[in-house]
Amino acid sequence: MANIFSRATNGVMDWVNARAPGMMPVYRKHMTEYYAPKNFNFWYYMGSLALLVLVNQIVTGIFLTMHFKPSAAEAFSSVEYIMRDVEWGWLIRYMHSTGASLFFIVVYLHMFRGLMYGSYQKPRELVWILGMVIYLVLMAEAFMGYVLPWGQMSFWGAKVIISLFGAIPVIGQGLTEWIMGDYLPGDATLGRFFALHVIALPLVLLLLVVLHLGALHEVGSNNPDGVEIKKGPKGNRWSTTAPRDGIPFHPYYTVKDTFGVGVFLILAAFIIFFAPALGGLFLEHDNFTEANRLVTPEHIKPVWYYTPYYAMLRVIPHKLSGVIVMFGAIAVLFLVPWLDRAKVKSYRYRGLLSKIALGIFAICFVWLGKIGAGPGTDPVETIIGRVLTFLYFAFFITMPLWTKLDKTKPVPERVTTHD
Ligand code: HEM
Repeated sequence: MANIFSRATNGVMDWVNARAPGMMPVYRKHMTEYYAPKNFNFWYYMGSLALLVLVNQIVTGIFLTMHFKPSAAEAFSSVEYIMRDVEWGWLIRYMHSTGASLFFIVVYLHMFRGLMYGSYQKPRELVWILGMVIYLVLMAEAFMGYVLPWGQMSFWGAKVIISLFGAIPVIGQGLTEWIMGDYLPGDATLGRFFALHVIALPLVLLLLVVLHLGALHEVGSNNPDGVEIKKGPKGNRWSTTAPRDGIPFHPYYTVKDTFGVGVFLILAAFIIFFAPALGGLFLEHDNFTEANRLVTPEHIKPVWYYTPYYAMLRVIPHKLSGVIVMFGAIAVLFLVPWLDRAKVKSYRYRGLLSKIALGIFAICFVWLGKIGAGPGTDPVETIIGRVLTFLYFAFFITMPLWTKLDKTKPVPERVTTHD
């Protein structure tokens, strides 16, 4: 049986190769002859998991689109219809809404890995920049998606966020109306957000992910030791010219990533089946009530993945300054490859200074996230928020200094395989 199967697949492959001889070299370059460092650890699961969640969002999104009605009059009830009457509709919807939060969890861990192991340093600056563009598009994509079910938080969240553009001098007011297509979020807003959310931005995301991986495969992957395997000794059991510390991506890392996918799916299933809204964190309670322009929710706040930036906006009393700081906090991440002056990539071989700085940065980000998710009425919390915002920016602004001053340890010639 196996013999018949392998003969049939070989036959099909030969047939395709005869007609499209350029395809096999591409497959080899990116899979069987892409030599990845042999010391990947837990953090290196996140790239393939981000791909998995992207596919999940697209597939479940297609099924939601079959029943969703993009109009202010019908959107909310069409989502209720999906949840109650469409066969398995509740599962598709929760896989999509919980999937959005899982996407951000995976992407934040993926980005933090980049910061820990200096994966943004030369020659991978472009990989990082493309990753940052993906992050921006992902935030826009998730924001527009959250508006679609037309719940209270969809409406008021859209109003607050789009109105931020009103802080821009001269053109602000006009720009806000242009984005909404109205004086308040309404039918026009929903229609354009739907078009952007289901087709335009997913296409952009897919293209960016292809470029992201293309850029990575040109230079090769970094690893937890931050040593370039291409510069190390050559020759392994697959090729005399491949880096000695590299193993073929397929089958070695496809198998390893499949294990990661299995564990991830078990955890994701627990959340989707038992706590899809995660106590109001993944889907806010207010969004289970239909949008009403006459009733303002008690606390308007975005979903958790935006709250660090939202906290910065709220703790700064001047609106335009708040908006600038908020966007600046994202923009500054683009500059990391040029702010970091360290001679070694990985934090494994950096000194205490770098470890403390990265630790403070991570604490600031999480704590700001907690403040942004709260009601924002506590004056002490506002002061803490300002200090954390200051430290957040200080991390980046002083980076050229502490990365240069820091005492680094000698980096090994070859990658190490203990963790
Ligand atoms: C849709 C979102 C994304 C997808 C599907 C994705 C996918 C991937 C994959 C499959 C890899 C190779 C495997 C790995 O190293 O984990 C990778 C590497 C990388 N990604 Fe992403 N990525 C995404 C977003 C981002 C973002 C937001 C950033 C940072 C701003 C980023 C920065 C990087 C870097 C620096 C590497 C190289 C890591 C290394 O070699 O150590 N990625 N990405």
